[in-house]
Amino acid sequence: MKEKIITIPYTPRDAQREIHNALDTHRYSVIIAHRRLGKSMAAINHLIRYAFTHSMPNIRMAYISPTFKQTKQIAWDYVKQFTKQIPGIKYNETELRCDFPNGARLTLYGVDANPDALRGSYYDFVVMDEVQLINEDVFPTVILPALADRKGKCLFVGTPMSTRNYLYELYKKAKADPSWHCKIYKASETNIIDKFELAQLKQNMTDEEYRQELECDFSAAINGSIYGKIIDKLDADNRITKINYDIGYPVHTAWDLGIADEGIVVFFQEIGRQIYFIDCLAKSGEGLPWFAKEIKNRDYVYGKHFAPHDIEVRDFSNGLSRREVAYQLGIRFQVAPKLAVEEGIHITSMMLARSYFDQQKCEVLIDALRHYHRKWSVNNKHFSKPTHDWSSHFCDAVRIGAVSLTENTAGKKPPQSMAQNEYQVFGAN
Ligand SMILES: Nc1ncnc2c1ncn2[C@@H]1O[C@H](COP(=O)(O)OP(=O)(O)OP(=O)(O)O)[C@@H](O)[C@H]1O
Ligand SMILES: [Mg+2]
Repeated sequence: MKEKIITIPYTPRDAQREIHNALDTHRYSVIIAHRRLGKSMAAINHLIRYAFTHSMPNIRMAYISPTFKQTKQIAWDYVKQFTKQIPGIKYNETELRCDFPNGARLTLYGVDANPDALRGSYYDFVVMDEVQLINEDVFPTVILPALADRKGKCLFVGTPMSTRNYLYELYKKAKADPSWHCKIYKASETNIIDKFELAQLKQNMTDEEYRQELECDFSAAINGSIYGKIIDKLDADNRITKINYDIGYPVHTAWDLGIADEGIVVFFQEIGRQIYFIDCLAKSGEGLPWFAKEIKNRDYVYGKHFAPHDIEVRDFSNGLSRREVAYQLGIRFQVAPKLAVEEGIHITSMMLARSYFDQQKCEVLIDALRHYHRKWSVNNKHFSKPTHDWSSHFCDAVRIGAVSLTENTAGKKPPQSMAQNEYQVFGAN
């Protein structure tokens, strides 16, 4: 029989071509891209090509978006637009299903309609579009088991929307696992939306909206985020990555020891002008002895241990200050200078801008730095002081480190109520 060549009327843009190539070589891919890049069109076309190029018989593919309506309006139209020339192609409009003449099948879903409809089949390729709006249970409980039969692939696509959603979790997972593909496409880099149009969008969107939708900044959606912009920049500059502890330099720690709240210790090294956050410790309901043990168990050569001034407060039960208790446990605290919180935030911002973070060991610390924010006061029309929540303890510890280090670097030392000497209980510098 004579072969007939069918041309699909789709010419990928550069970014789309790059995405297709990555999908060919990776099982799991996370694509974070600005609005209107052509994510959905690329995803549908990749599935269409897969139907004909994959070697297995009876290919099963699924495209999933947050709502059935959206799936029908956008993706289903793309499916029909790009497959209508294929002889023998069949559509089921009710089920949004497309049957290819070679036995391959592509079904489109909206998770709001019936997520369980996805169960009961194996899948060779699944696309989850607008993942930031999809419940985090869908992939591990419904999709992942269905991919296991034939080692199916999965593409996650989305645009950032704060750090409290599944896209952000997937982004962190993909960055930490070299077998996953992960790429961010910013509008300022792809040149898909022209400069004039971008300028118009900038004028008509808030700074946060623009950064979120066009520049793919995760922290932008956290209204009033204090360090979000800096963390997004560090992330874009690849400064949130794997950091190896440099044994040639001491490790300093900075503490925020709540009584009722979570206690936090951050570990960092100062090497030249750069600060490397290499580790972090967080625990509720534990006192100094637990932290002292954990610090000792870590194989670091310590420099200074910085603590807030309330470390000098005496405990009614034994008359000792926490600094004295710490001393008995082998930790010689240096008290941080007492500065106004806002001044501390300013100094911290400057320190963060020259910092690196270990992506895995400092994962919660990074999340906290993104999340730390001020509340918008509707009555007074301004952002109030930082909100006291889970993230503030981490950021307080970092602030203690920043102000102490700045004082140290400037050659000044805050007055200490205990004599200081260079003796180190856990090893010399
Ligand atoms: N390769 C291409 N060639 C020409 N036009 C394209 C191409 N890819 C996408 N487009 C056009 O760009 C627009 C956006 O495409 P698409 O819906 O795939 O983008 P998206 O990134 O999913 O957008 P959104 O962020 O709104 O979901 C559409 O009008 C589409 O027709
Ligand atoms: Mg889309």
